Amino acid sequence: MSGILIEIKNLKLTLSNTKILDKINMTIEPGKIHCLIGPNGGGKTSLLKCILGQVPYEGEIFISYDDTKTIGYVPQLLDFDKTLPITVENFLSIVYQKKPCFLGISGKYRKILDDLLKKIGMYEKRKRLIGNLSGGEKQRLLLAQAIYPEPNLLILDEPFTGIDKLGEDYFKSIIRDLKSKGITILWVHHNLKQVIEMADTVTCIKKEIQFSGNPKKILDEEKILTAFS
Ligand SMILES: Nc1ncnc2c1ncn2[C@@H]1O[C@H](COP(=O)(O)OP(=O)(O)OP(=O)(O)O)[C@@H](O)[C@H]1O
Ligand SMILES: [Mg+2]
Repeated sequence: MSGILIEIKNLKLTLSNTKILDKINMTIEPGKIHCLIGPNGGGKTSLLKCILGQVPYEGEIFISYDDTKTIGYVPQLLDFDKTLPITVENFLSIVYQKKPCFLGISGKYRKILDDLLKKIGMYEKRKRLIGNLSGGEKQRLLLAQAIYPEPNLLILDEPFTGIDKLGEDYFKSIIRDLKSKGITILWVHHNLKQVIEMADTVTCIKKEIQFSGNPKKILDEEKILTAFS
């Protein structure tokens, strides 16, 4: 499995006449865990949206992507309508298979889907309506839709928000497993202790890049205070 490389040159993003990102230059090496940190409103989600082609930016973003590769994305927030008649397993089957979910799950996908539900600890809750899931359960479901088919790049936007210790453990073990397969992981994260524990590189963004490097070496108190103040 080959991880995707991303190279960003002189990226600038302006929305509603406000400069959101400026002078962003960074390389996201394949097969590594890269964390993005920074204060609220610093532009982390906006940078992910630029990479995913969801907003018009200036500058260059090179992604070593072709149609044999897959990108998985866990967004920061996704609210489901409470009355939507879609269960957890319907949701995953919509993502995976072409036939409508009300016609049932294809034999081909049944085992894949059950394995994934077990992997995220949601097998027992597979018949629940997605609108009734708790915040942490929604996050787990969003992770499940992003990891099949196995991605070459996994983009996570604060997936631990509202998630408990057990949920965190599911996420961490899935992320470690993907990393061991050479998959690139780009991860917006606010828990600096976990950034030090898991990431190969960290970049702090507050409109511009504040600092970037190996989290074990770079995340000292002074830098964090300057960046977040
Ligand atoms: N469509 C838009 N028009 C104008 N401003 C926007 C738009 N989208 C985002 N912004 C602004 O861009 C800035 C960066 O937002 P962004 O969501 O990227 O921050 P973030 O670093 O992800 O913050 P958080 O940690 O709170 O998730 C914010 O000030 C936000 O209000
Ligand atoms: Mg954000």
